[in-house]
Amino acid sequence: MDFTLNDEQRQLQQLARDFTRKEIIPIASEYDQKEELPWQVVEKAFEVGLLNPSIPEHAGGLGLGMFDECLIGEEIAYGCMGIYTVLMASELGIAPILIGGTEEQQKRFLTPLTEKAGLAAFALSEPNNGSDAAAMGTTAVLDGDEWVINGTKMWISNGGLAEVTVVFATTDKQGGHKATVALVVPKDAPGFSYNKIKHKLGQRASLTSELVFENVRVPKENQLGGLGDGFKIAMKTLDKTRIPVAAGSVGIARRAMEESVKYAKDREAFGKPIAQFQAIQFKLAEMAIGIETGRLMYQKAAWLVDQGQPHGFESAIAKAYCSEMAFSAANEGIQIHGGYGYVAEYPVEKLLRDVKLNMIYEGTNEIQRVVISRNLLK
Ligand code: CAA
Ligand code: FAD
Repeated sequence: MDFTLNDEQRQLQQLARDFTRKEIIPIASEYDQKEELPWQVVEKAFEVGLLNPSIPEHAGGLGLGMFDECLIGEEIAYGCMGIYTVLMASELGIAPILIGGTEEQQKRFLTPLTEKAGLAAFALSEPNNGSDAAAMGTTAVLDGDEWVINGTKMWISNGGLAEVTVVFATTDKQGGHKATVALVVPKDAPGFSYNKIKHKLGQRASLTSELVFENVRVPKENQLGGLGDGFKIAMKTLDKTRIPVAAGSVGIARRAMEESVKYAKDREAFGKPIAQFQAIQFKLAEMAIGIETGRLMYQKAAWLVDQGQPHGFESAIAKAYCSEMAFSAANEGIQIHGGYGYVAEYPVEKLLRDVKLNMIYEGTNEIQRVVISRNLLK
């Protein structure tokens, strides 16, 4: 394994870093407070090639691998995890189309996302079942050449705004995962509506919605994979997409550390900068240990994806480790800032609010431990 970034990767990382400094950091706090998705950032990300970069070349995209996607992710999340979730959730919506879709479907659903700024979404969770994803209650009934979808999906990032949403549904509620199907639903499908979920703790610049399906009809050609493949397509997707959550977490931790270093050198107590107290120095050192270790872990998991090797175990470890490490870094970042850390004047309180979600979505960290331990015990 070579840790040296090649020229293209260095340029990509720099592009994402510059984009974050120019387009994200200046507006992150404002959109967090307004609880609004900054659409202009999505458009600008599209213009510079940072939106949906995993779309393959045969569908008109850049075809970036997971390692490169994560390089971008760490940088964007450094600026705002909520805005990163908008971009990341779009990649999450694209992934099942790459995993379960034919080349014709990939072109049909994904090429439009390379022609103008647009998002995808992934609708698995429901009001009554998130962790137990196979217990889904949203139904799909075949009527001639069309699937008819009924039900409600909950907590869907980019929900209702996305051009295409991959919806997981059951054809028989008693059939478990073997009766599930993955269907691509376009934004304008009659009977498809959404309600924005308000008052989130963090990541408030991302849109989270309840999706309602009332006799929504999609042609059979919108089915990804075979009948009964829905759950497995979702699992294979999450095995990959938990890695960008880990990368984003490292970005948050790096921000917490850099803000804390700056503050600790500046703030004085007992006649000297607080950076001279060993208690503060050790907190900074802990952050650095976590960031370096976490980056290695997400890079290993991403590298395995790009090599076409099994990666579910490593992606679960990376997601759980990096999100908890970043939560701790953000928490200690507030501590280092003292009272000032507790208010929005400094960015560290937002880091803590934002990073909490990384421990919940894309499978809670308890579920990551289910995946990890099943791998050990199988
Ligand atoms: N890859 C391929 N197949 C898999 C698989 C994987 N990773 N994991 C399980 N399967 C297969 C199994 O082999 C089994 O197939 P067979 O019956 O043919 O042998 C089948 O799927 C059922 O497997 P399990 O019995 O292990 O499934 P389970 O019901 O016990 O669930 C689970 C396993 C890991 C807990 C799973 O339900 C899970 O991951 N839950 C969490 C859901 C989740 O992560 N949701 C995230 C939503 S997206 C999101 O949150 C996005 C965002 O915020 C932006
Ligand atoms: P539950 O499954 O009810 O879990 C409650 C608690 O019980 C958790 O602590 C959980 O870890 C624990 N628990 C459950 N089962 C077990 C077990 N077997 N062992 C140990 N502990 C267990 N979903 C999507 O499909 N698409 C999205 O785009 C998306 N975006 C989201 C955005 C936001 C802002 C949020 C909050 C959620 C999003 N989600 C999305 C949903 C997210 O994936 C779920 O919230 C998550 O999987 C947990 O499901 P739940 O909320 O139903 O909790």
